[in-house]
Amino acid sequence: MPGCFIEPDSSLAGLESPHLKLGVPIHSGYQALSEVAPFRGPSRIFDAIADRLATIDMPYEDQCSIDYYFDLVRVLRDLNGEYDRVVEVGVYMGGASGMIAGCAERFDFDIDLVDIRANNLQFSHERIRRAFPEVAERVRLFHGDVPSYVREVMLKERAGRSIVHHDGAHAFNPVVSDLTALSFVRQHIHTIIAQDTHLRGTLDNMNFVDLALNAVFGPDFNYMPIGKVYDANDNRTAPNPYQGNYFLPGVAEGMVLPMAVNSFHYPHPSMIFEGLFGPGDAPKEDVRVAA
Ligand SMILES: C[S@@+](CC[C@H](N)C(=O)[O-])C[C@H]1O[C@@H](n2cnc3c(N)ncnc32)[C@H](O)[C@@H]1O
Repeated sequence: MPGCFIEPDSSLAGLESPHLKLGVPIHSGYQALSEVAPFRGPSRIFDAIADRLATIDMPYEDQCSIDYYFDLVRVLRDLNGEYDRVVEVGVYMGGASGMIAGCAERFDFDIDLVDIRANNLQFSHERIRRAFPEVAERVRLFHGDVPSYVREVMLKERAGRSIVHHDGAHAFNPVVSDLTALSFVRQHIHTIIAQDTHLRGTLDNMNFVDLALNAVFGPDFNYMPIGKVYDANDNRTAPNPYQGNYFLPGVAEGMVLPMAVNSFHYPHPSMIFEGLFGPGDAPKEDVRVAA
C-alpha cells in the first residue's frame, strides 16, 4: 500500500449523519459515554473531555470500553511533556481519536490519524472538529498502513517522539509487520499502546495482538495494563454468535509499552526496511493538511 496524506472533507460539516455520506457502517451502535457515570470525578481532565464529546450530536459507534478511554487519557497525562505527537493507527469512527484530541491542546501535541479506510479518517476528523475545533488544525490524516506511514512520514521527517496507539489490524501477521516497521524508527517512538490484547476469535481473523507483541518484543516485555479485564464468568469470554470473537479472561484490553524499558527482539539488526517492506511505490497523492 503506498499511503499518503489526504485533506479533511469540509462538506461533512453541515451533515446530521456524516457516516451516511461516507458509507461508514454502524454495527452495534455502542457509545462509550453511555457508561461514563462511574468514571466521573477522579479526573477533571477526563470529565472535561467527556463533557465536550457529549455536546456533539451525530450517530457513531465506539469500539473500546469506557474503562479503556479513561485509562488512555490518564496515560497521555502521565507522559505529558515527553512526546510531541500521537500517531493513532486504526480510527474507525473516532472513539479513541476524540479522547486523544481532547488531550492535544492541554498537553501540547500533534496528531496523525492512520487508517486503511479513507472514509474512517474523514469521519474521525469530523468528530474531532465538532468536539474540539481548536485541535482540528493539529490533525493530519494518513491513508495507509503502518509500514507505509513509516516509509512516507517517519523515515522522512525523522523528528520528535511519538506515542503510537495501535488499534488497526488485529491479526498476528499484520501486527507483527506493523511493529517491525516501527523498529526502524524506534528512536522516535516514546511508547506503543496496543488495543485488543485480550481478543481472540476464529482462524479467519487470527486475532493475536498480544502474541504479536511477544513475537517482536520477546516473551517478557514490560507493559502496563489498561482498560477492562474480564472475569472468567463474564459471557464475553465465550465466542459471540456473530463473528465468534471473545475475550481472554484475566488479560487486559490494552497494553502500554514504553520503549525505554522494552527492546525489539525482531527483526534481526542486519535487516533493512527496504529488504523487509520493499522499495515502495510513490504515493499518488501527497496533499498535506495545511500547517
Ligand atoms: C477496531 S477499529 C478502531 C476502533 C477505534 N480505535 C475506536 O476507538 O473505536 C479498527 C480500524 O482499523 C482500521 N484498519 C484495519 N486494518 C488496518 C491496517 N492494517 N492499518 C491501518 N488501519 C487498519 C480499520 O479500517 C478500522 O478503522
